[in-house]
Amino acid sequence: MRAHDRIIPLHPRRAHVTGALPPPPEGSFASDNAAGVAPQVMAALAEANHGPALAYGDDPWTAAATAALRAQLDAPAEVLLCWGGTGANVVGLATVVQPWQSVICVDSAHIVVDECGAPARFTGASITAVPNVDGKLRPEALDPYLHWLGTEHHPQPGVVSISQVTEMGTVYTVPEIGALCDAAHGHGLVVHLDGARIANALVACGTDLATMVRDTGVDVMTFGLTKNGAMYGEAVVYLRPELAASARYVRKQAGQLPSKARFVAAQITALLADDLWLDHARHANRLAGLLADRAGAVEGVDIARAPEANAVFAHLPAAAIAPLQEWSFFWPWDLERSQVRWMTSFASTEADVERFAAGVSAHLDAVPPA
Ligand SMILES: Cc1ncc(COP(=O)(O)O)c(C=O)c1O
Repeated sequence: MRAHDRIIPLHPRRAHVTGALPPPPEGSFASDNAAGVAPQVMAALAEANHGPALAYGDDPWTAAATAALRAQLDAPAEVLLCWGGTGANVVGLATVVQPWQSVICVDSAHIVVDECGAPARFTGASITAVPNVDGKLRPEALDPYLHWLGTEHHPQPGVVSISQVTEMGTVYTVPEIGALCDAAHGHGLVVHLDGARIANALVACGTDLATMVRDTGVDVMTFGLTKNGAMYGEAVVYLRPELAASARYVRKQAGQLPSKARFVAAQITALLADDLWLDHARHANRLAGLLADRAGAVEGVDIARAPEANAVFAHLPAAAIAPLQEWSFFWPWDLERSQVRWMTSFASTEADVERFAAGVSAHLDAVPPA
């Protein structure tokens, strides 16, 4: 069970730290969207704040951001700016699926677990959640549902949706995405990619956006900004522009058309300029590796797997979790297994990693013997 919203005492016997605790980190390892806004993005917002501009995307900033995203893809993609990640997923999915169809994804997918049912509600489609394998969807998981195609009693598989990076912190390789796209396209399904952390995945794989999404055959994606240093906003990118025929109506109806779109656009342009988005992701991923090393060296901490991107999953003695959260908050991940999640961002610092690891050590020293 995953818990994002509340601190649940995991163990009746809490660790009581008696000695002096190190100062908690200045930043937060709770999530990458706990970080603030990158200074370059703030500067771009201020820069865009000169004079009037037509609303709803009829402005030079939106044109520039669209051109910058198309340049990354080297493709004539349709780009629609949205307010946020859930909304962008809703818009992308609702454009390509009918209420009598289904979206196949894994049971850990953000669209299933963390969006309060918004994709199901706004698309009217069935969301078919299959067991994940380390957060990933495997092509063979589609097979049982592909047999439903053409039978009027079953929801018709219409979309395969994957998250890159996955909610388990794993990263699909380019061949893995290609295999999923081949399996989906072979049966006429559309592939949607939730790229809330696409930059982290690109640097983890050492590849570029065109190779990862255009060449593999992804049809529509959410291009994530917020976790990469933006203040707000995400983009829906239709790699097959013909799929976007109804997209503008869907976006407006879903409440995802930003009136002053220039401010979302300016952030995209700022992040893409000089590969700032990739630098941010590289930094976050590197610090996740450092955090796993430092905290993993503390006796009693078990790092579930070496981080592939910017998430660290750790098992801790249950009694240490609540006091540690009070000292520097983070989310529990799997309460039954005493597993927690720590995330790094563009704003994380090495000093904070060291402080956090020192705090972990101090708290684990105080865990009462079993
Ligand atoms: C995988 C994934 N998709 C989408 C989102 C976007 O969500 P939000 O609507 O909070 O911007 C998130 C944010 O946590 C996420 O982790």
